[in-house]
Amino acid sequence: MSTIIIEQAEFTALRDLIAQRFGIYYDDSKQFLLQSRLQTRLLKCRVNTFVEYHRYLQLSADREAEWSELASVLSNNETYFFREKAQLEVLVGEVSDEAVKMGGRLRVWSAACSTGEEPFTIAMMLRESGKLRPGSISIRAGDLSPKALGKCAEGFYRELSFRATPPEVISKYFRPFEGGFFISDEIKKMVEFFRINLLDAKAVEGVGIHDAIFCRNVLIYFDKPTQKRVVEAFAKALRPGGYLFLGHAESIMRLTDLYQPVVTQKAVFYRKKQDAAN
Ligand SMILES: C[S@@+](CC[C@H](N)C(=O)[O-])C[C@H]1O[C@@H](n2cnc3c(N)ncnc32)[C@H](O)[C@@H]1O
Repeated sequence: MSTIIIEQAEFTALRDLIAQRFGIYYDDSKQFLLQSRLQTRLLKCRVNTFVEYHRYLQLSADREAEWSELASVLSNNETYFFREKAQLEVLVGEVSDEAVKMGGRLRVWSAACSTGEEPFTIAMMLRESGKLRPGSISIRAGDLSPKALGKCAEGFYRELSFRATPPEVISKYFRPFEGGFFISDEIKKMVEFFRINLLDAKAVEGVGIHDAIFCRNVLIYFDKPTQKRVVEAFAKALRPGGYLFLGHAESIMRLTDLYQPVVTQKAVFYRKKQDAAN
C-alpha cells in the first residue's frame, strides 16, 4: 500500500478545517504527522487524494460519522493515573474543605478525560480522603474521542497508566486481569462519562455548574484565540470562586481576566473571580 502524499496547500486547507471544528491545531511542523494519521481514513472513505477527503468532510452525506472517526484519530490521548498530583491534592484539600463548609456537595468536571485515568484518580483520592459522603460527590468526565470514551467504559488499564500509582492503590482499587487491571466497580460508578467538543460553547454551558474543572494538557493543542474561547466558556460552568486546573505547560495569565491565578509552592491553578459575569 503506497502512502498518499499531502501537498502543502492541501495540508493548510485541511488543518484549518480541523482547527475550526475541534480546536486541535497542526502547525507547519506537523504536516507529515497529519498525513500519516489520515492514511487509513482516506482508505476507509475510498478517496484517493487529500483534496477529495477535504470535500468529503464538508459535503458527504456521511460526513458527521467521519468527523466522529476523525476525533479519535487526531487527538493525543497520553494520560496516566495520579498525573500532576499536586493539583489533585488541592482538590482533596482546600476545594473539599470549602465544599464541606458550603453544605457538603462537590461537583467536579474532568473536561478532556481521554481514557479515564484523570477522573478515576479524582474519584479514588476523594474516596480516600473521606471528607465528603460518596453520594454528595459528582464527577463528570467528557472527551471528544469516541475511542477514548470506549476505554473509559471498559475500565481496563495496562502498565503505562500506572507509572505514578502507589502499589497500595492498585491493590485496593484494581482487579488484575490478563496483563492489566480493571478499575473497581466502586470507583467506576462514581464517574459519569459523556462525549463533548469543548469548542461547542452551548454544550459546555449545558454541562451545568461545577466547583472545579480539570482541563489539563488539552489547551496546548489549541491556538490562543481558541484557548481564550474555551476558558471563557468554562466560566459559565463554574460557580463564582470555582477552581480551574490546567496542565503545567498551559497558562491563561494574559488571555482573560475572568480568573484569578493562584500560585502556591506546589501547584498553580485559577479561580473564577467572584464578580465575573456568568
Ligand atoms: C493529552 S489528553 C489529556 C488527558 C488528561 N486531561 C490528562 O491531563 O492526563 C488530551 C485529550 O483532549 C481531548 N480533546 C482534544 N480536543 C478536544 C475538544 N475540542 N473537545 C474535547 N476534548 C478534546 C483529546 O481527545 C484527548 O483525549
